[in-house]
Amino acid sequence: MSKYVVTGGMGFIGSHLVDTLSKEDGAHVIVLDNLTHNAITPEELCADKKNVEYYWLDIRDHNIREIIRGADVVFHLAAQINIDNSIINPNDTIDINVNGTLNVLETCRIYKVPKVVFASSSEIYGTALTDKMDESHPLDPQSPYGATKVFGDRLCHAYNEAYGMNIAILRNFNVFGPRQRYTRAGDCYGAVIGIFTDLILRGKSPIIFGDGEQRRDYQYVSDAVDGYLLCVEKDIIGPVVVGTGVDISINDIALTLIDICGKKGEIEPIHADARPGEVRRLCADTTLARSYGFRSHTDLYNGLKAYVEWFKANVHS
Ligand SMILES: NC(=O)c1ccc[n+]([C@@H]2O[C@H](COP(=O)([O-])OP(=O)(O)OC[C@H]3O[C@@H](n4cnc5c(N)ncnc54)[C@H](O)[C@@H]3O)[C@@H](O)[C@H]2O)c1
Repeated sequence: MSKYVVTGGMGFIGSHLVDTLSKEDGAHVIVLDNLTHNAITPEELCADKKNVEYYWLDIRDHNIREIIRGADVVFHLAAQINIDNSIINPNDTIDINVNGTLNVLETCRIYKVPKVVFASSSEIYGTALTDKMDESHPLDPQSPYGATKVFGDRLCHAYNEAYGMNIAILRNFNVFGPRQRYTRAGDCYGAVIGIFTDLILRGKSPIIFGDGEQRRDYQYVSDAVDGYLLCVEKDIIGPVVVGTGVDISINDIALTLIDICGKKGEIEPIHADARPGEVRRLCADTTLARSYGFRSHTDLYNGLKAYVEWFKANVHS
């Protein structure tokens, strides 16, 4: 019987992780989330899952301690992830991501949680200095959000060193897939895929900030979940980069989505001013993850097709 705790388990990646963990024989999955940016409701996530328990809690709240106590694995995903919001109002992002992560790690230290997986991010790197980015790439974040992820990432490292803890630091690149929030409010990461899909299905042009030659490594969410499981199965300690190792421009994302939505020849992307703090290029060097046996199973085209199908059925219907 394994007791798993997932902070941010009502979010986009966390909810898929909970779905997968709950299928394991004898698993007890506990979700902590304050529903500020949930991708799914507790009723939806817990329906038909007797082994999933949900607590409405803020990760900065000391009451998380009694819930985490006795956990075999803590997956710490809860965070304020909106890059634009972090630039407009850094205080909230810093408070949640820094003090929340400190509270979660302290709890894990005090209660001797045997395994922790922290959701770090490629945003810790800033623009790529090398063709592909591995665990040793310099950390040079370009937004307060990225800086808070550096804090969490390096605090995990320090806890491994100082207290002999067993924390995997998972550096995902851009994850996309069903349940991802797609508001125009400037959410980070693969949210651009949702924003473009929404516009294209409504017969409007996707708006690309800047020249559209910003490049990202987009990974389908089930592969990202595999990365979290790998950290536990292989008992990874310290940083591990998990992505596809293939990058694509925002221009090509827009054109591919126009094609998948059947609007080729009808719609063309349009360009607007570049956004401040936007990283120019990010692509994962997955050598370390691959040495542990990690493989991506869904390519970009099929992932985008699955996403558009989900969008049509759940958002656009
Ligand atoms: N989505 C990506 O492409 C990506 C890439 C790299 C890293 N990450 C990291 O993975 C994690 C999950 O990302 P996501 O895209 O699923 O984000 P998300 O916003 O969908 O999920 C985060 C969840 O945390 C919850 N939350 C926020 N503040 C909280 C607080 N103070 N207390 C309790 N719960 C709180 C939200 O309600 C939400 O359900 C984040 O830590 C993010 O930084 C995501």
